Amino acid sequence: MKIKGKDYKTIWFDNNTVKIIDQTKLPHKFIIKELKTVEDTINSIINMEVRGAPLIGATAAFGVVLAIIEKNEQSFIDKSCKDLINARPTAINLKWAVDRMNSKLKGINSDEILSIAIKEANEICNEDIGFCKSIGLYGLKIIEEIFKKKKGTVNILTHCNAGWLATIDWGTATSPIYHAHQKGIPIHVWVDETRPRNQGANLTSFELNEENINNTIITDNAGGILMQRGEVDMCIVGTDRTLSNGDVCNKIGTYLKALAARDNNIPFYVALPSPTIDWNLKNSSEIPIEERNSDELSTIEGLDKSGEIQKVQIYPDDSKSLNLAFDVTPAKYITSLITEKGICDASEDDLRKLFK
Ligand code: MRU
Repeated sequence: MKIKGKDYKTIWFDNNTVKIIDQTKLPHKFIIKELKTVEDTINSIINMEVRGAPLIGATAAFGVVLAIIEKNEQSFIDKSCKDLINARPTAINLKWAVDRMNSKLKGINSDEILSIAIKEANEICNEDIGFCKSIGLYGLKIIEEIFKKKKGTVNILTHCNAGWLATIDWGTATSPIYHAHQKGIPIHVWVDETRPRNQGANLTSFELNEENINNTIITDNAGGILMQRGEVDMCIVGTDRTLSNGDVCNKIGTYLKALAARDNNIPFYVALPSPTIDWNLKNSSEIPIEERNSDELSTIEGLDKSGEIQKVQIYPDDSKSLNLAFDVTPAKYITSLITEKGICDASEDDLRKLFK
């Protein structure tokens, strides 16, 4: 999608270097960062210069490529893979991408391994673009239906950033929105700020603005009253891990939005590419929920008057806090899942019908 009218992807490989858009600096500064070692990729994932389930998966795939360039020895590659998977625990895409790289590279001789690894990491990216585009085309049908009935602007609420910045292109939750906008359907997006890191305010609103899509940032707690006032036609969010029973783990606060949507009879959709499905875990209480540094709660970043990014402290160091990064929305609150293969109920039967 576009930044200042120019098309970008969130990650690309060039001259033995991985290039990313540093998302910790958006929307204030647009910086392309170069990652040259596997450690650079691990740090970039931990520090959330890249974030969003599909993008951290793709970054990990390129991390494997950089590990091979650094030291083409199995023990080093194995350790790198382990560290990549552990960089962030909740999104299953990270493990999925590393496992996929490993199975592709198994038994390949050391002369060929690098070129095959580069090809596979690029393939993971291209596949994700295709998945997200397809999610958009299926999701478009839902928006079209609402528009046909309402004959007015479709108001969509989203949480966190499941936009193109969280993927390689298009996004998951935003892809139907981009497709609807391109078809001329009037759209307005309520963008949850998404404390503590403000991915909604800093990233979703930014990317929608760059594509000229009408949007309004709201506090995380404002969604409920907007739903009660009839100002939300549908909710659509992304996911970091969806279990085969349809339970969805996504950015903290998603669950509360789903509860409010149910209370107000508003459809609640989750958009996901299939690598985000965890077919193995049976119980959502077993999903590792990332607990991040409490510094993310007690401080906030923004621009000072001279245009520099500054971090300020909101409350004292000795105030106790807990920073849980994700929660689980039970399948019963989800109207449908929108996948690259079609729309289905959030249930094992329906998911398995689509992904045999
Ligand atoms: O902590 P983040 O910013 O990586 O969390 C991102 C989300 O929760 C997204 O909704 C999810 O990864 C889906 S991205 C298409």
